[in-house]
Amino acid sequence: MNVTRVDHIGFAVKNLEESVRWYEETLGIRSAGVETVAEQKVKVAFLPCGDSELELLESTETDGPIARFIEKNGEGMQHIALRVDDIDAALRELKDKGIRLLDETPRRGAGGAKIAFVHPKMTKGVLLELCERE
Ligand code: CO
Repeated sequence: MNVTRVDHIGFAVKNLEESVRWYEETLGIRSAGVETVAEQKVKVAFLPCGDSELELLESTETDGPIARFIEKNGEGMQHIALRVDDIDAALRELKDKGIRLLDETPRRGAGGAKIAFVHPKMTKGVLLELCERE
């Protein structure tokens, strides 16, 4: 597979608006807009930082993955996403290597990206997302 960059780092937050304001006012990083991903039960804001982005995620439901993460760990860094140029090939390669995946086939993420998560047991506790963009 061909990993080309750190695409984004995902942060679980309780209040998206407040968090976006903090990054904008404190660090001068501008939000590229807010999007709801119903399937993941999240509202997402992307804050571009050069070649990569911060992805702020607020749960829209009490039982979503981000709500569960915050319940267990509190707010904070939740995942890191690596950009690949061909996610289908990357997933095939990982399966061939016996790597457990949370997503066997890619699904739609924010911004129309194709994404898939690797099982955190395989990455020593790091939730790793693979991400392909047009
Ligand atoms: Co992500």
